[in-house]
Amino acid sequence: MRGRTWGLRLLLLLGLGLGSQEALPPPCESQIYCHGELLHQVQMAKLYQDDKQFVDMPLSLAPDQVLRRFRELAQAHNLSIPRQELQAFVQEHFRAVGQELQPWTPGDWRDSPQFLQKILDPKLRAWAGQLHQLWKKLGKKMKPEVLSHPEQFSLIYSRHPFIVPGGRFVEFYYWDSYWVMEGLLLSEMPQTVKGMLQNFLDLVQTYGHVPNGARVYYLQRSQPPLLTLMMDRYVAHTNDTAFLRDHIETLASELDFWSKNRSISVSSGGKSYILNHYEVPYGGPRPESYSKDAELAATLPEGNRDTLLAELKAGAESGWDFSSRWLLGGPNLSSLSSIRTSKLVPVDLNAFLCQAEGLMSNFYSRLGYRNLRAQRMAALKDVLWDEGKGAWFDYDLENDKKKLEFYPSNFAPLWAGCFSDSDDADKALKYLEDSRILTYQYGIPTSLRKTGQQWDFPNAWAPLQDLVIRGREAGMGPTPPQHHEVRGSASLALGRRE
Ligand SMILES: *[C@@H]1O[C@H](CO)[C@@H](O)[C@H](O)[C@H]1NC(C)=O
Ligand SMILES: *[C@@H]1O[C@H](CO)[C@@H](O)[C@H](O)[C@H]1NC(C)=O
Ligand SMILES: *[C@@H]1O[C@H](CO)[C@@H](O)[C@H](O)[C@H]1NC(C)=O
Ligand SMILES: *[C@@H]1O[C@H](CO)[C@@H](O)[C@H](O)[C@H]1NC(C)=O
Repeated sequence: MRGRTWGLRLLLLLGLGLGSQEALPPPCESQIYCHGELLHQVQMAKLYQDDKQFVDMPLSLAPDQVLRRFRELAQAHNLSIPRQELQAFVQEHFRAVGQELQPWTPGDWRDSPQFLQKILDPKLRAWAGQLHQLWKKLGKKMKPEVLSHPEQFSLIYSRHPFIVPGGRFVEFYYWDSYWVMEGLLLSEMPQTVKGMLQNFLDLVQTYGHVPNGARVYYLQRSQPPLLTLMMDRYVAHTNDTAFLRDHIETLASELDFWSKNRSISVSSGGKSYILNHYEVPYGGPRPESYSKDAELAATLPEGNRDTLLAELKAGAESGWDFSSRWLLGGPNLSSLSSIRTSKLVPVDLNAFLCQAEGLMSNFYSRLGYRNLRAQRMAALKDVLWDEGKGAWFDYDLENDKKKLEFYPSNFAPLWAGCFSDSDDADKALKYLEDSRILTYQYGIPTSLRKTGQQWDFPNAWAPLQDLVIRGREAGMGPTPPQHHEVRGSASLALGRRE
């Protein structure tokens, strides 16, 4: 479905002028790190070998001041700033990369985790030991200034320290972190994993999804969805059910993002299915690979450029940036300009989501609803069921006994499917027949007492008719029923009458 509207949205984007602020508000508003003239000029001048370097540099002044001075510079040079002037401008207004992070030795790092002892080959054990040492090199935490002046950094502040991939990747990434966490658990470092998980959950809370990595210029896209699996590995290792309980809603909202923003309808054998794909509905070059993207786009007719740029971003979202997997259209099937990522329904993405859906359902069981129900069913039987009368009754705590009077609510366990013994259902039905409750001309009375109260004889309330009528059906049926919609209609009726 989203696939079909895609072309339309893209047209809308084009019509509004891509990259300008009037377009669908891009998840990253920064006029320095995400789009705008300054980014364009600096990246197209190729001041650095790697475009990522510029967008990783912190500002030395507030962004509006830097932008104002840039406009002055651009005007002074009639919009074509000489390279040297541009270089000097960047040097004056930006700081060197890596300033915002500091080294961090994980607090739960220990010299000899058990897995090392289990490796018999001495060479392999030594190698694994070196790998284990790497956690101390790759551990990073953020300086407090990233929190106090977020507008001066492309880095997104994270509360907890983390492990980075290393090399040019000095921030953390989404799907990479799953395998990092598997390694950390093997190294018996669950506290580090918990902090990283918390960072990802914070991102979902703030942005509605997990971005590709912890930089504002990655906010437009996600990466293969492995957050639920990360939680599963952590909980399997630690039994930290409290953490799971606190964050299960956030996990669910990440999956919502995939179903709302990344789903597509596919027909097969006359049936229609909803599956997922990678798709980034924003044009413009990727800020961290700006000149490469812009140059590739320039090889295409103008009308095709924004599609290409969006498909490149979708390719980056897949984690496979880039691969022949995503090449489909175009005259040259080995050229990246043939990329059509969003036109493929990826096996791995759909398998990851299938796994996450299974894990979520296990999580809810694990959080105890299955047990709670079993305990409550046992209590309903032991406390509220009266074998002599053959029905359920309210329990009077004051006098420590059941209040053995007729109310339609006595049959709610039948209606709710909360009985395990079909003999009890039979007895309850017999109680209903014997008490001749169903013979009242104007419906099932609320009680048999005439007190003048609304919820007493002879009034008959709609919800109570339903409790008894459908409860009776359920008691006669082969399996306890599952009601869902009933409660809504019952409370509607109540609302109207009161
Ligand atoms: C500035 O550029 C415009 C268009 O590129 C040109 O018409 C104009 O003469 C230029 N002005 C100066 C002062 O160079
Ligand atoms: C998902 O799509 C809706 C519009 O369809 C958009 O408003 C929202 O920002 C998107 N969510 C994210 C996290 O990109
Ligand atoms: C977690 O709990 C399960 C079941 O209670 C138990 O079998 C397992 O040993 C526990 N694991 C840890 C790491 O405590
Ligand atoms: C196709 O694209 C590849 C990669 O960019 C390039 O090496 C090759 O020369 C192109 N082939 C043709 C026929 O243009």
